[in-house]
Amino acid sequence: MMFTALVTGADRGVGFEMVRGLLHEGYRVIAGRYNKQEKSLSELGTAYGERLILVDLDVGSDESVKAAVRTVKEQGCETVDLLINNAAILGDIQSGVGDELDFADMLQVYNVNALGAQRMTNALHEMIVNSVHKLIVNISSEAGSIEQCSRDRWFAYGMSKAAQNMQSKQVFNSMKSDGVRMLVVHPGWVQTYMRGALDAEAALTPAESANGILRLIRERFTDPTVVVAEQRLDFVDVDGNSWPW
Ligand SMILES: NC(=O)c1ccc[n+]([C@@H]2O[C@H](COP(=O)([O-])OP(=O)(O)OC[C@H]3O[C@@H](n4cnc5c(N)ncnc54)[C@H](OP(=O)(O)O)[C@@H]3O)[C@@H](O)[C@H]2O)c1
Repeated sequence: MMFTALVTGADRGVGFEMVRGLLHEGYRVIAGRYNKQEKSLSELGTAYGERLILVDLDVGSDESVKAAVRTVKEQGCETVDLLINNAAILGDIQSGVGDELDFADMLQVYNVNALGAQRMTNALHEMIVNSVHKLIVNISSEAGSIEQCSRDRWFAYGMSKAAQNMQSKQVFNSMKSDGVRMLVVHPGWVQTYMRGALDAEAALTPAESANGILRLIRERFTDPTVVVAEQRLDFVDVDGNSWPW
């Protein structure tokens, strides 16, 4: 049986590597394409043929999300076993309380990072409930942990990720009676382009981070030999260690 996964923000970084890893594991993968300049996804399509479905997807736009879901259905996908809400933007991480803040920009960070996950979950609700795995993975951040927070900047990003954590809990509460499982993951400090240029100082490569996330998914949710005693929502890092909310 072939399972279907959908990954948002899949052009590069952790999202792209999760797409690659899921294809390797045998999934049919719907990859949300946002950055038209980035060619890596198309190149992957050459290797995996029809198992990779590319859809234009801006998670910050109602119209784009609806159009993407229409396209997915037209391609013959009736269910989504695994939704990975990965797309996010960083926004301004320099300005503090005494500085001029760009509130329109901050609203866009909230719109993409927190509401983006909600848009996707709502749009795919039925397709997830009718699937086999029924799994939603929200890629969050340690920056969304209120208990651990020592930053006095990063306002838009930190608040948006805290909001995404709350969104995760509310979706979990709402969908658990349908058998839907959820996981909230901090992917680590990763060598990606979130800061505008490659963050070469970061601890993990995108592939290391993505492989950790896929390992968690395999171990906790898709291995039929593992019996999950209780349904609960965890916030963990890529090694499976718990993070405080
Ligand atoms: N990197 C880290 O150290 C780190 C730490 C903690 C959490 N995270 C989280 O990990 C996830 C993946 O981030 P990453 O590090 O891989 O960053 P990334 O390389 O910037 O990847 C994010 C992807 O999302 C895309 N995107 C931006 N806006 C979008 C929109 N409106 N709709 C759909 N896609 C959109 C980006 O497109 P562009 O190519 O145009 O930018 C990019 O392809 C994010 O949720 C992030 O918050 C990352």
